[in-house]
Amino acid sequence: MIKSLAYLGINSPHYKEWEIFGPEVLGLQHAGYGPDGAVHLRLDEAAHRIAIHPGERDAIAYIGWSVKDEASAKTITDRITAYGLEVTRSRTQESAQRKVEGFYWFHDPSGFRHELSWGQYHTVAPFHPGRALKGFRTAEQGLGHIVLAVADLDEGDRFYREVLGFHQSDIVRDGPLEAHFYHINGRHHSLAITSLPTRDVAFLHLMIEANSLDDVGTAHDMCEQRGIPITTTLGRHSNDQMISFYMYTPSGFRLEYGWGGLDVDHDLWVPRTYDKPSSWGHRRQHQELTALKMVDTPSS
Ligand SMILES: [Fe+2]
Repeated sequence: MIKSLAYLGINSPHYKEWEIFGPEVLGLQHAGYGPDGAVHLRLDEAAHRIAIHPGERDAIAYIGWSVKDEASAKTITDRITAYGLEVTRSRTQESAQRKVEGFYWFHDPSGFRHELSWGQYHTVAPFHPGRALKGFRTAEQGLGHIVLAVADLDEGDRFYREVLGFHQSDIVRDGPLEAHFYHINGRHHSLAITSLPTRDVAFLHLMIEANSLDDVGTAHDMCEQRGIPITTTLGRHSNDQMISFYMYTPSGFRLEYGWGGLDVDHDLWVPRTYDKPSSWGHRRQHQELTALKMVDTPSS
């Protein structure tokens, strides 16, 4: 069983910009570099959870999930193999670069590379944020959540639930928008999927959750002061009740900076359907159109 979103890897020609963007705008800790020069960013006790690798084009490189141990990973990889997808075990060097004991990786039906990892390294030295803030809500809820545009929504829904074991939180149906949200721990959703009219696959956003609403406000101020495009205005989501805004990152994808996400109790939860993604705010800005065009298909 997958426990949480553990880490995320991005390829980007603008990876160096994250040395400033990560700590100063997001409040993350710059936690050194990978062997390829990747900028490692930390937001809690884990050695790092975000790695921005040098790359010729902006693209999502890998999505790291945590499982309890290798035996748990094998239970899932058996289902992935039965589904007809190839699964590969990490080499020692690759595991060390991800700062985990090991992982199995595969490409999902839309081509996104997922890694089922165990034994994430934790750093004893306390998290030292890049700017004064009260930290991020992670622990058993993991890094945050990601939203993917998949090639086929029905197939994606089936794959993530039946093969990977995600639990449905709810669905949003608003005109042409249909999005499915899934939980694997107390966080309302660690993954959501939708589809684009073009049927292109895309990495739409990463959400990180601050412990304080004031820190969301500070991040908002930082974006305005530095001319960082706010692609979706401050607002509150209907389903996870998160107050957040979305900014455009240096690597062509959006980052949702939020606070106050709903906890779910899996045993009691009954999936819902909402007619709007947000109860107030979250107006999409002109820049989002540019951002969507620039999100890239996953690397193979
Ligand atoms: Fe989100």
